[in-house]
Amino acid sequence: MIDIEDRLTFDERSTVDYILAMRKRWADTLYPALAEEYRADGAPAQTVEEAGERFRNLNLYSWFSHLERVQQKMLWKTAGDAVISRRDDLIDQLGEVRAPKGKLVLNSEVELPDWYTDFDIHIQPGGFFSDDLSAYVYEFGARIVMLRDNDGYKFHQLFTQTALPDLPDAARVVDIGCGFGKSTRPLANRYPKAEVIGIDFAAPGLRLAHAEAEAEGVAITYLQGDGRTTGLPDGSCDVVTGTMVLHEMPAQAVKETIQEAARLLRPGGALRFLEFQPTGDPFRDATIFEHAERNNEPFFHDLFASDLLEFCREAGLTDASWSPFDERNEGVRPEGWGDRREWHFPWAALAANKPEN
Ligand SMILES: C[S@@+](CC[C@H](N)C(=O)[O-])C[C@H]1O[C@@H](n2cnc3c(N)ncnc32)[C@H](O)[C@@H]1O
Repeated sequence: MIDIEDRLTFDERSTVDYILAMRKRWADTLYPALAEEYRADGAPAQTVEEAGERFRNLNLYSWFSHLERVQQKMLWKTAGDAVISRRDDLIDQLGEVRAPKGKLVLNSEVELPDWYTDFDIHIQPGGFFSDDLSAYVYEFGARIVMLRDNDGYKFHQLFTQTALPDLPDAARVVDIGCGFGKSTRPLANRYPKAEVIGIDFAAPGLRLAHAEAEAEGVAITYLQGDGRTTGLPDGSCDVVTGTMVLHEMPAQAVKETIQEAARLLRPGGALRFLEFQPTGDPFRDATIFEHAERNNEPFFHDLFASDLLEFCREAGLTDASWSPFDERNEGVRPEGWGDRREWHFPWAALAANKPEN
């Protein structure tokens, strides 16, 4: 497979490095300075709303908010231009899969809801679903968004290793909202005997996921579909999982996805999702809400305001819990996120189980 980063011109490389450096300094220098200014400004706020009002009046706020939005836009422009100028090579390789070990099943009849198509998620022009090349743009952009810390899909590997149960005989595992497959491929290593299925709305993502899995010789079935109505049989899955998908849906759709996962699980099966949760620090949580707004992620608020543990219980699942997740080193970390100066996502793993009977 072509890795577009191996083909960048000197100018393109310089622009990517510039955006990455700006993003890192925003997270590890500007954010701590804003936090310091906030602390010096008076007693800590008691609510997220109060913290938001307070920090919007700080001197560094306009730099903080402006840079957050601008570097995201620069990122998509750079990634988009780099991908589009290599269009033919990239499209060609999607069609080059020979003698596949896995499967790709696209379905143009799948209805994309308005809440999915109405927003350019992450401000990526056209979103993730609307153009044959959008998955390449997203794949390239996501490396920078994660500050290159998720290269080799380290966060996804950690999630798979530390949040998912040991089930050596698992026969079927489903990844809802699999995107271009970075969450799905680690599942095939974790559950070598299982049929691994990735489901997503977006055909461009699935095409890239399929081509990359085949290039690595990993057998995965990719299905175009809605995670709320997968069409798979009742009780047919050992694990239903997903990473960074629930915060992109309105609350009702999250509830329906959890109900669908509960329906798919066999008795004793496991639901596990990697998501985000409020930290309880009003200042920090207010910056997360603002991040979501500036990044066109309109349903982040729904995730934080909804009780997903209750959704799990209502769906008949037991032992529902959230655990903090350290994406850099440890993965699931029940004792808490720990102290970190820099801005970072409040990763958390949602777990629930289907009772044995
Ligand atoms: C932020 S991406 C995460 C992709 C992948 N899991 C990862 O960690 O890189 C969210 C994905 O969920 C998909 N998605 C959102 N809602 C969905 C739904 N109801 N059914 C299927 N896919 C959905 C989007 O198309 C997108 O590919």
